[in-house]
Amino acid sequence: MQIKAPKGVADILPDDIPMWRYMEHALRSALERSGFAEIRLPIFENSQLFSHSIGAETDIVAKEMYTFQDNGGRSLSLRPEGTASAVRAYLENRLYERNPICRIFYMGPMFRAERPQKGRYRQFHQLGAEVFGTDSAYLDAEILALLMRCFKRMQLTSLKLQLNSLGCPECRPQYKRQLVVFLGDNQAGLCADCMRRADTNPLRVFDCKNPGCKEVLAPAPQSLTSLCGACKDHFEQVKELLTTLEVAFEINPRLVRGLDYYTRTAFEIVSSQGDKSPDKSPDQSPLGAQNAVAGGGRFDGLVEQLGGPKTPAFGFAIGLERLLLLLQEQPPAIEPSAWVYLALLGEKAKRKGFILQQNLRQQGITVQMNYADQCLKKQLKSAHNLGAPYVVIMGDDEIKNQRVILKDMKDGTQENVPLEQLIGKLAEINS
Ligand code: HAM
Repeated sequence: MQIKAPKGVADILPDDIPMWRYMEHALRSALERSGFAEIRLPIFENSQLFSHSIGAETDIVAKEMYTFQDNGGRSLSLRPEGTASAVRAYLENRLYERNPICRIFYMGPMFRAERPQKGRYRQFHQLGAEVFGTDSAYLDAEILALLMRCFKRMQLTSLKLQLNSLGCPECRPQYKRQLVVFLGDNQAGLCADCMRRADTNPLRVFDCKNPGCKEVLAPAPQSLTSLCGACKDHFEQVKELLTTLEVAFEINPRLVRGLDYYTRTAFEIVSSQGDKSPDKSPDQSPLGAQNAVAGGGRFDGLVEQLGGPKTPAFGFAIGLERLLLLLQEQPPAIEPSAWVYLALLGEKAKRKGFILQQNLRQQGITVQMNYADQCLKKQLKSAHNLGAPYVVIMGDDEIKNQRVILKDMKDGTQENVPLEQLIGKLAEINS
């Protein structure tokens, strides 16, 4: 019997690791340069944490959480996202006592029981970051600029930043009232789920994937038109600061995000290649039918809602599988897993090469050798498969003459190098 991985769950294979490392390294170093420190959060939490923060009526909590009871009868859930855990950890460990502004990031698997398809998985990975302690629009602009700069450095130039403002507890009730009136006037075209949400949590109607409901909801009132003075000013400032930093954005008044905790700025970074244009089927676009590679916004009320002091906050999460799909369209130059490969012919050369391998590694050079006593052709093929730009060829003759052949795999040229000069020469090329 062959047991396969569960649906929507994938292995990350050795061949994929260089790209994962590239993404993780690029994002991690950009965040660390901006004062973020890493936090490692648990994979599962008390289920209540998610229903209290993300919202019991959201699709994520109501339909997509992996929830189970442990032996003590406690309800636990695999984390569907990281913000709730980050807030819990911030409070439980009193991180606010160290610094009035706390910047943390996390990376790891998240779990949502969604219907798997390209760009949408049941186990997927996020890199998320949260900043606690300021409601300044400067922070929103700083983080959005940081994200867009990161993507630009990765040569992802077809990404668009979409922005909206969802208001605050001052103006949200007014917006909700308008929406409820609209939903009441249009109940005929709405599904039972949307009708229930109209009573319990009206904003969540926008999560409905039913095409009929989407059509009915197209002319629904928008949060932007009900913002109070303070929220309006905040949003204007975010936009103005982004313009100053030359970060392009577009306003998407339909962007409500699928989580309840957002206030004021909400955003998504979407692939314009994923636009559902008539000449491009979802299968052809790099993210399939999905198009958001990252999303986030302000959650000024969540810390207080989870029992902490009043603490405004802003954060985001990037979907790493989706980022990978985009990067695979135009792969960046990745360090090969062997910079030099030792092709060794005969027992004496193998012993000499074995010591050379150690010495090269001590010089910081990435090197691999062949233990299988294969012919030269096969060894060169292995070097090619590893992406090694250089090969050292050594056999009995070379040992006798104390010279080796250094082959440049890009142009095929070969050079005869005295053995005692080899390490110095390779170190020089590699520097
Ligand atoms: P989210 O929009 O639910 O936000 O997820 C962030 C990103 O995770 C998405 O833009 C997408 O790239 C990726 N993602 C989500 N679901 C899946 C899936 N099933 N398969 C593959 N990728 C997926 C959050 O999670 C918030 N916690 C973001 C945040 C942080 N807001 C404030 N701070």
